[in-house]
Amino acid sequence: MISIQWLKDYQTLSSNAADLVSDLICSSKNLNLGCPTGNTPIGMYQKLVNRDLDWHKVTTYNLDEYHDLDQAHPGSYRQYMNQHLHKHANVNGSYFPTKSYDVDIANAGGLGLTILGLGHNGHVAFNEPGSEINSLTRIVKLNDETIRRNSESWNYTTLFPTHAVTMGMKTILASKVILLLVAGQSKLEVLKKSIWGPVTGDCPASYLQTHSNVTVFYCE
Ligand code: GLP
Repeated sequence: MISIQWLKDYQTLSSNAADLVSDLICSSKNLNLGCPTGNTPIGMYQKLVNRDLDWHKVTTYNLDEYHDLDQAHPGSYRQYMNQHLHKHANVNGSYFPTKSYDVDIANAGGLGLTILGLGHNGHVAFNEPGSEINSLTRIVKLNDETIRRNSESWNYTTLFPTHAVTMGMKTILASKVILLLVAGQSKLEVLKKSIWGPVTGDCPASYLQTHSNVTVFYCE
């Protein structure tokens, strides 16, 4: 079941998201947290790191990473996470997709909360259109629209990556709770398609309709 909250602005979206994450950290003994990158969650991370939370309870599992990109590269998702969360929060452990990711996550008890962003083409993590509902962690070719949009903020001499490694839909959908963060009018159409349209690989975010506990926060 998907419940959606239409929020008045980005500040509200960020603080509501930080509240949901904080509440879960406080009420859990340990929390395996699926973490997104992109512009949308930055405000949430900023609010979270300014709160007094017991980060030792939290293990982060990132959703995706560019393939064949040095982890020290400033455009990598590792560096993004370092900048926005890990250098401020002493988490129990922080992981990025590997070959054994799905098994490792399952062995760790699965994800308690997974936070997602939404791509303009309906992707979640880097599960691009055409991804299957039971897909696992894998290397994917980024589609042209994703490359065009994500490379707009790529201010480096290194060529923009053509591939990424992403957590698959199966592990995302096995998360106990899912929070989808969507900011910007330009994503409203794809959001409506995702939550009310047919469940189809053409729009991988529509697979969230099959999950029992999804919250969506949207602001213009
Ligand atoms: C990237 C990431 C996604 C993210 C999406 C939306 O492609 N791989 O995980 O959710 O972009 O990003 P933004 O929030 O910047 O629109």
